[in-house]
Order: sequence, then C-alpha cells, then structure tokens
Amino acid sequence: MPNINTPAWKALLAHRDQISGLHLRDLFAADPDRFKRFLVELDGLLVDFSKQRLDEEALRLLIDLAETARLAEWRDRLFSGDKINFSEKRAVLHPALRHLKLGAFPSAENDVMPEVRAVRAQMRQFSEKVRGGLWRGFSGEAIRDVVNVGIGGSDLGPKTVVRSLSAYQHPGLRMHFVSNIDSAHLAKLLDSLDPRSTLFVVASKTFTTQETMLNAYTAREWLCAAAGEDWARALPLHFVAVSSAVDKAAAFGLPEANVFRMWDWVGGRYSLWSAVGLSIALAIGMNGFERLLSGAQTIDNHFREAPFERNLPVLMALVGVWNTNFLGASTSAVLPYNESLRFLPSFLQQLEMESNGKTVGRDGQPLSCQANPIVWGEIGSNGQHAFFQLLHQGGWLVPCDFIASAQSDFPLPGHQAPLMANFLAQSAALAFGKTEAEARSELEAAGVPADQVASLLPHKVFAGNQPSTTIILPRLDPFHLGMLMALYEHKVFVQGVVWGINSFDQWGVELGKQLAGRLLPALQGVGDTVGLDQSTRELIAWCREHGDF
Ligand code: F6P
Repeated sequence: MPNINTPAWKALLAHRDQISGLHLRDLFAADPDRFKRFLVELDGLLVDFSKQRLDEEALRLLIDLAETARLAEWRDRLFSGDKINFSEKRAVLHPALRHLKLGAFPSAENDVMPEVRAVRAQMRQFSEKVRGGLWRGFSGEAIRDVVNVGIGGSDLGPKTVVRSLSAYQHPGLRMHFVSNIDSAHLAKLLDSLDPRSTLFVVASKTFTTQETMLNAYTAREWLCAAAGEDWARALPLHFVAVSSAVDKAAAFGLPEANVFRMWDWVGGRYSLWSAVGLSIALAIGMNGFERLLSGAQTIDNHFREAPFERNLPVLMALVGVWNTNFLGASTSAVLPYNESLRFLPSFLQQLEMESNGKTVGRDGQPLSCQANPIVWGEIGSNGQHAFFQLLHQGGWLVPCDFIASAQSDFPLPGHQAPLMANFLAQSAALAFGKTEAEARSELEAAGVPADQVASLLPHKVFAGNQPSTTIILPRLDPFHLGMLMALYEHKVFVQGVVWGINSFDQWGVELGKQLAGRLLPALQGVGDTVGLDQSTRELIAWCREHGDF
C-alpha cells in the first residue's frame, strides 16, 4: 500500500515542489504539443488532460506510484472475481454484467454468465412486452407510466441513464423515479398517475432499505385500493422487483416470475448494468441497454489492456490523486454542459464518495494521506450564473471535469454553438485567467479614466491556474454514455488502490440508519429517549409538540 514514506510518494512531493511555481500558462508556453501530448481519444470519446497542472515527469512519477500500489495486480484481481471486497467477503464483478461476448466470465470455474444471460433474456422479454403494449394492467390497459422505486444506486444509476438518454426514450412510456422517504415525492407523483396503466419497478438489492420499502408498500396500497376485490390478481400485473432477496420480494406478494435477480457481487452504486437497469431497458429498449453495456465493456477492455500512460481511467485517477494529495485540493467539480446529464453529478457523488470517502485503509490502519475529495457539480451553463464567480476569483483550488457532447441530443437552431462556446470558454478562462497587464490594457482601450482604472484593476484580474479535464462525447448516445460512466467507475477503483482503500463497502452509512431506527419509536411516542444526547432529546420533544406523526 502506498504511503507517504514510499520513494514514489517522496519523488512526487519533490517534483511538486520543483514545478509548483509554474502556471498553466508556462506549461503551455513550454510545449507547443502539450494538447496532443495530454490527449487520449477512444472510440470517439475525447479526454483532454492538458489543462491539468502537471507535466510529463509528474505523470511518470504518478504511474510509478500506481505501480508501487500494485495496480496491475489489483486490476487482475477485480476482473478475476477475487473477493476484493474483503470486509463483506464479496467479489466485485460488475464487469460481468457488461460482458457481451460468448464464453465464461470471470473464469470457466467460476462462470457467472449463465445467470447474467438468463436475467438479460428475462429483461428483454418483459421490456418488449411492456413497450409493445402487450403487458396489460388489471383492467386490460397497456402500461403508460413506469415508476422506479429505489434509492442510492438503485435510483441514481438508472435515473441518470434514463434522463441522459431521454432522446432515445419510448414515446408511449413516461418514466418516473421515486426515492425520497418524504411523502411529498410519492404523493405528488401518485396524484398524476392512473393505477390502471402504471407499473412499479421496486429496485432494492437487499429489499430492506427503509425508504424503498415504505414507498413500495404505500404504492402497493394505492394500487390495491384502486383494484378493489381484484387486488391479488392486480398486484403482479403492476409490480415487479429487482433484488437479490427473492424471498423478501415474495413476502411483498410477488411471484418468482416478477423478480429480476441480482447478486451479492454487484455493489449498489455499480448496479445500473444489472437488472437495476430494467427501467433503462423499458425506456430505451433492450437493444439500447445493450449498447450502453457495450460502451462500458469498451472501457473494461481498454482499462485491462492499455498501457498506464494511455489508459483513461488510470490517468483520470492519477490526475485526481495529484490534485488532492500533491496540490491540496479538497473538492472536485463535475460540470456537464448538457441538460440531459443533469443527474450525473449526483451519480458521481455516490460513486466516488460512497466508495472512497474513507480514512481507514484495507489493513485497518488510518490512511497516511487524504482520500476522496468532496465531489459536487451542476450543469452548464447554469452554474456559470451561480457559483463560477468563486471558481474564477474565490481563491480555492477546485479541479473541474468539463463534460459535453459535440452534437445536441435535442437540437434547436442556434443553440449548440453558444453552448459549446461557453463550455470551452470556461475551462480556458479558469486555466489562463487574465493578468494585471491584460486587464489594464482592456480598461484603457475601453476609455476608462486613469483614476478608475487603478481602483477597478484588482477586481478585473483573474489568477487562472485552475486545473480541469475536458471530456467530449461525439453524441450523448447509449454507447458513449456507457463509456463515460464505466470510465468513472474504474477511476474510482484505481484511486482506491492508490489510497489503499476497499472501495466496495460503505460502513459509514450504517450509524445513521441504526440511530434512525432507535429514534423512530421515540418520535412516535412509543419509545423512550434514555441514553440519547441532550440536543437530540430536546429536538424530539420539540418535534413531538409541533409535528404530525
Ligand atoms: O445506504 C447505502 C446503500 O446501501 C447504497 O450503497 C445502496 O445503493 C442503497 O443503499 C440502496 O440499497 P438497496 O438497493 O439494497 O435498497
């Protein structure tokens, strides 16, 4: 495990000190081929690292660091089905879900593909029936609304994909996603739906998640009330489940045929490629879903085969390590310039922060360095009119990922060029800024009087040197979206290896869940508050007085 005492880490620190005085302007001035040198293109996807604050030597040393962390070995363990999620004793086999070739995976001895293919076939059959209007509700109506009930990975993955690919969506099906335990989410949606033509997909790997189960049971009551005496026949016509807990789905009232299986070797935040993607298949068709898988598989193959210095997830990960651990960034922004990618920042927040938001290494020891930065973001160009001021002049180091598609997915004349102009302008402005001399000559050229130039000047200077990666997809289609999402998945894995983290557990979410279970009866007035802290006790008392439970 790399720690700050390894020669690779020390060499990076020394090199950082050597080049820390260089501005991105200097790095570009020193190398007329910098763009080409820091560019990787793969199947139409372009990734430009040239506006990151590093040079080739830094990259070489970062690759040394990855080698010190035995990245190649860990990558092989991932793809060979080793139980690398050791704290939960599980393999991490989401690449199997996008294995589209014939043959076994991960190996002939431990082949998961027969089950994976069987579920894919079940998804195809079901989605074609629903999309073709052949799956009928209790009154004989075809399905017009699909509601995915899930949370975390069972919501963010499929929702991000379905919303990103809305240009490919079946015109006869409206897709909805309910996740929040706040009844406002489900209540407002149910008001707009007709139970006779609504299908619920309850997506929960465990089938125990509080939010999902409560929403699913409330939706079930709503449906059963509408079906009246016919409710038992209606239930399996309007509910299907995606879960690894077939018995729990049965207890909910669903026959086995209505359950789409997943396995303990698929982590929640890596599950959109499994039957958790059923709502994706319903929205864009199974062929579209398989295009998505194929994009992801392209990245799997690239990750396995490309040398580290041309390997996209490896480079993205190492650039992130450089920014976090050597330049001291504590945050990282995702800025998609495409309205359809609105949910990508939330998806990446879960992917990155639930995977690597940890301070303890695989060996149980405290990490000797900071791990994942805080991930946040917003679509462009909206963000420009909200928080970009801070990125330009706020004095914080905020590495950014700028993401766009060259072609619009919903074209209107005259929109795409200004969108892309803004997209490219922001990363250039953040990188190169505006010097005092440039600001002064602009003010003078605009005829601003000399005394005002002096007072305005400090406000008109942009320090620049804000690092960013530019990612451009040719189109926001299923294939390239699959590439993009798998790229980030493997980036997270590589960073976990470098930081020495098990990226596939999430014990940090448990304490709050446990406490909520303890507080619920107290809030409902059937449990005591003994042993709770003073603030929580008093807040419970206040809520009981003012709330409606
Ligand atoms: O609470 C965190 C979490 O376990 C996530 O990792 C997961 O994606 C989400 O809850 C939902 O879990 P499930 O699919 O089991 O309902």
